[in-house]
Amino acid sequence: MSKQSPSFIPLQISILGAGKIGLALTTLWIRAGHSVCLGARNPEKLQAEIDKLGLKASVKSIKDAAEASDIVVLAVPYPVVQGLVSEISNELKNKILIDATNPFGFSPEGHVISTLGPKITAGTHMANLLPESTIVRAFTHIMDELLVSRGTRHPGLFAMAIAGDDPTAKATVAGLVSDTGFVPIDIGNLAESLPLDPGGILFAHVFTVADMKLILKSKRS
Ligand SMILES: NC(=O)c1ccc[n+]([C@@H]2O[C@H](COP(=O)([O-])OP(=O)(O)OC[C@H]3O[C@@H](n4cnc5c(N)ncnc54)[C@H](OP(=O)(O)O)[C@@H]3O)[C@@H](O)[C@H]2O)c1
Repeated sequence: MSKQSPSFIPLQISILGAGKIGLALTTLWIRAGHSVCLGARNPEKLQAEIDKLGLKASVKSIKDAAEASDIVVLAVPYPVVQGLVSEISNELKNKILIDATNPFGFSPEGHVISTLGPKITAGTHMANLLPESTIVRAFTHIMDELLVSRGTRHPGLFAMAIAGDDPTAKATVAGLVSDTGFVPIDIGNLAESLPLDPGGILFAHVFTVADMKLILKSKRS
């Protein structure tokens, strides 16, 4: 059971994609006291596993999960992102979309790069795909296997970069990041969010808050 502050407000969150990131975030937010509805292609296959997480966890089809909450996390492989969001753009209308997806690729020399190229961020690209949703980038730069361990063993020590154009949505997401045990660091708007994309200076690393602030400052000066 989590130690909730007196000001804690439980939220209903949907997570589309019940893979490594989706399940890690489900675990963390259920522990924190939120309700999570996972969206999966075959929800019945996951039902027994999700039942073990208690009454606040549920699993539905992707479309039903997208409909179920005002805050939706996207955690599916990048190659399916464009097709999927166009299918559910109505369900995502006027909602906060926390985009954790990464256009991950390698350069011919073997460097990690964004498959979108260096001129557009994944967040700006998503905002173009979903102009009626409010996009916040988060949970992009930390490997799935470290999310639960770092969030629960050392809460409040490690930093999670977030970016978005809407300050209110970003504040909501910052609260949700804190509830996973990470400290949210606002790195700016979507156009400024290359650092948290593949190939960016924060990708795919875990930093303490002080170290993240230092690396961001040194790259800007
Ligand atoms: N893994 C990491 O360390 C990490 C860190 C940060 C961000 N990310 C990003 O987060 C996203 C998810 O990564 P992951 O590692 O969690 O991937 P994953 O373990 O492969 O899980 C992806 C999930 O998406 C579902 N999915 C696949 N195709 C789909 C489609 N056409 N429609 C609906 N759902 C579909 C899969 O469902 P099925 O089970 O039905 O196949 C699976 O549950 C990626 O964009 C990745 O770049 C990953």
